[in-house]
Amino acid sequence: MSQRPLNVGLVGGGKGAFIVHPHQKAIHFDGTRRVVAGALFPDPKIALEEAAKWPYPIKGYGSYDEMIAANATLPEDQKLDYILIVTPNFVHFDPAMKAMKAGIAVFCEKPLCLNLKEANELVKASRKLNVPFGVAHTYLGHWTSRLSRYIVQSGLLGDVRWVDSYYIQGWLATKLEATGQQQASWRVDPKRAGGSGCGGDIGTHALMQLRYVTGLDVTKVSAQMETFVEGRMLDDHFTIYCGLSNGGKALVRASQICIGHKNDLGIVIAGTKGTLVWKQETPESITILLPNQPDRVYWRGAVTPGDGFMPKDMPADLMAEPTIPSGHPEAFHDAFARLHRCFEVDVRKWKAGEKFNSDGSKYASVEDGWKGIAFIETCVKSSKKKGAWTAMPTAKF
Ligand SMILES: NC(=O)c1ccc[n+]([C@@H]2O[C@H](COP(=O)([O-])OP(=O)(O)OC[C@H]3O[C@@H](n4cnc5c(N)ncnc54)[C@H](O)[C@@H]3O)[C@@H](O)[C@H]2O)c1
Repeated sequence: MSQRPLNVGLVGGGKGAFIVHPHQKAIHFDGTRRVVAGALFPDPKIALEEAAKWPYPIKGYGSYDEMIAANATLPEDQKLDYILIVTPNFVHFDPAMKAMKAGIAVFCEKPLCLNLKEANELVKASRKLNVPFGVAHTYLGHWTSRLSRYIVQSGLLGDVRWVDSYYIQGWLATKLEATGQQQASWRVDPKRAGGSGCGGDIGTHALMQLRYVTGLDVTKVSAQMETFVEGRMLDDHFTIYCGLSNGGKALVRASQICIGHKNDLGIVIAGTKGTLVWKQETPESITILLPNQPDRVYWRGAVTPGDGFMPKDMPADLMAEPTIPSGHPEAFHDAFARLHRCFEVDVRKWKAGEKFNSDGSKYASVEDGWKGIAFIETCVKSSKKKGAWTAMPTAKF
C-alpha cells in the first residue's frame, strides 16, 4: 500500500496573499503531500474565517502558536510533517524556530529571516535538532537549473570567469505602497522586510541562482544600493559587483523600478571554454555558446548524451527526473513542485529515522538562507561606504 500523504500546515496565506497559492498547488502536485491545516492571518478571528473559506477543507487555527501546540496532541496520522512559512520576512524566524523545537520540519520562504543573528540561530537549531529545513528559492526547481548546474560544475564550460546574475522588475517604479497595496506595503518597510528592499526580495534569488548553478561562493562585494522612488526607506535598485571563491568576478543585480520588466531573472555564465545563457521567463531551454560553432539550444526533455558537447554518461537522476515531454511547457508551479517533491524525500527519510541530506543540491538549505542574509548585510555595509570592497563573513556554526 502506498504511504499516506505528508501533512502540511500553512503559516500565512489568508486574505489576498500571493505566494501561498503557487505553493499550495505545488504541494498537491504529486498526490503525496496535502495541506491539512493553516494559521492564515495575524488576527485570530480572521485567521479562522479565512481557513473556513479555503478551497478545500483544512483545520484552521487562530495563530501558528496554536497550530504548533495542537500538533503534539494529534494522532500520529494527523500530525503535521512540515510547515510552510509564507508570511512576510519578519514572521519567518519565530514560527520556524517553534516548529523545529516541536519536531516539525520547515519549508520557509526567502529571505530566510531579518538579520544574521536570527539566521545563525536557525542554522544552529536545525543542526542540533536534526530537522529538515528548506528555503523556497523557486528557480532552482526548474529542470534547466539542474542541467545548468550539471554543465557548469562538471567543467564543460571550463573555469568560470564571469557571471551576470540578475532579477529585474518594474512593479515598484511608482510609490505603489502609498495605495496600500498589500505586497508592496511590507516590502518597503525595514521592520517587516529587513535591511534591504529590492536586494532582500529578489537580489537573494539572483545570488542563489549564481551559487546553485556554479557551486561558487561570493567572497567580497562592492555594492551600490539605490532608492529611485522618493520617500522610500529601502533600496529599489541593487547593483553588486562580487568577487567569487575561484577568483572569478560576478555582477548580482536586481531592480524593481525598470518599467515593463516582469520577472526578468536570468543568468549568464562565461567560462574559459564557453558561455551558458538562461532566462526564467523562457525556462524550458538553455543556450550554450561555444567558439566557432552555431549556438546550441538544449530543451528540457530533449537532451542527447554524447552529442559532441554533453558527455555520454550524464547522471541518471538528472535524466530521469519526472517530467512531461519537451514542448509541453513546465514553468513556475512545476519549479515549486520539484522543490516540494525533493523536500518530501528528506522529510520521509527523517521520519523513518534515516539519514537525510538537506545539502542544497535539490532545494536551498538553511545554510543557503544564511548566505543570502550574510550577503545582504555585507552589501548594506559596502553601500554605506560608497561601494568599498567588503568581505563576506565566515559562518560561525
Ligand atoms: N519564492 C518566491 O518566488 C517568492 C515570491 C513572492 C514572495 N516570496 C516570499 O514569500 C513571503 C510572503 O510574500 P507574499 O508576497 O506572499 O506576501 P503577502 O503579503 O501576499 O502574504 C503574506 C501572508 O502572511 C500573512 N501573515 C502575516 N503575519 C502573519 C502571522 N503572524 N500569522 C499568520 N499569517 C500572517 C498575511 O496575512 C498574508 O496572508 C515573503 O517572505 C516573500 O519574500 C517568495
